[in-house]
Amino acid sequence: MPEPRDWDSEWLTLSATALDAVSRAETLEALEAARVDFLGRERGRLTGLLRSLKDMSIEERRRLGPQANALKDALEKSLEARRRSLESAALESGLAASRVDLSLPPPPWPRGRRHPVAETLREMTGILARLGFAPAEGPLVESDRNNFAGLNIPADHPARDLQDTFYLKDLPLLLRTHTSPVQVRYMEAHKAPLRIMSPGRVFRHEAVDASHSAVFHQVEGLYVDRKVSMADLKGTLSTFMRGLFGPQAAIRFRPSFFPFVEPGAEVDVRCLLCAGKGCPACKRTGWMEMLGAGLVHPNVLRFCGIDPGQWSGYAFGVGVERIALLRYGVPDIRMLYENDLRVLESLAP
Ligand code: PHE
Repeated sequence: MPEPRDWDSEWLTLSATALDAVSRAETLEALEAARVDFLGRERGRLTGLLRSLKDMSIEERRRLGPQANALKDALEKSLEARRRSLESAALESGLAASRVDLSLPPPPWPRGRRHPVAETLREMTGILARLGFAPAEGPLVESDRNNFAGLNIPADHPARDLQDTFYLKDLPLLLRTHTSPVQVRYMEAHKAPLRIMSPGRVFRHEAVDASHSAVFHQVEGLYVDRKVSMADLKGTLSTFMRGLFGPQAAIRFRPSFFPFVEPGAEVDVRCLLCAGKGCPACKRTGWMEMLGAGLVHPNVLRFCGIDPGQWSGYAFGVGVERIALLRYGVPDIRMLYENDLRVLESLAP
């Protein structure tokens, strides 16, 4: 015969510890452990006692049965209440930990800025816009007609050579070698009078070195009206160069040849480094070659359907990188394209 169990004393410890264990649980895990300890289906101590009611004497059962069931109800209610309070405490502390203090200053934000070429381009078009030039654009892939033929460049001209021009494979097209084809496009479409600027990328099949890149940018200017003269051109370019390099910038015209202008000129700016005294940067000439320009050739006007007897015009084309190198004091054009942030961030006009 096994020892008869002392139900009263078992009940006493159980009822004294159960509710206490619940209120002492500090975490949801501890609370679950307490639940299993008392109400677990297999080994729960209160579950066990309730299961044992059938082994008790009638008298014991009458005494303990209602109390044990009442404790079970109370325990379940208290477990539920404690679970809710632990859960909301966990939520609160999670929220507190991730709270954003909107009054704090923001962390330092890396500031971007324009690339020197983009910035130079922007200033160039800004000055020309104030002089009344309207923006016009053309495609990078061009026809021979617009890039050469319409510009009075003969079929045997060296610029058409494979050495200088990128031609598209299997197509009668090329990458424009200058922004001048936009002249042809615009004059054909709009006739005279007109005053446009055309910024954009151009391509030349040439070896890359400190001052040459196969891809670079130009800004084209074109003005067609009645009685446009070299004097108009010189005034505009003088203002343009002073806008870019400051009021002391002086220009001179040197006779030169481009098939699409007559007369043609190369425009020099007085050396920005030695102010004309002569230094290595200007090869001791006191002048720096800056752009090509001239009066639009009558053949070009005619090609575009504009009567050269009625209208005349000037055109110019400026390399953007050349200006950027001078303004930012960069010694090598490749520094503008390698996109080494340490270099770009150090550049200031
Ligand atoms: N298109 C010429 C070049 O790329 C520049 C130029 C433009 C010259 C307009 C005269 C007139 O060299």
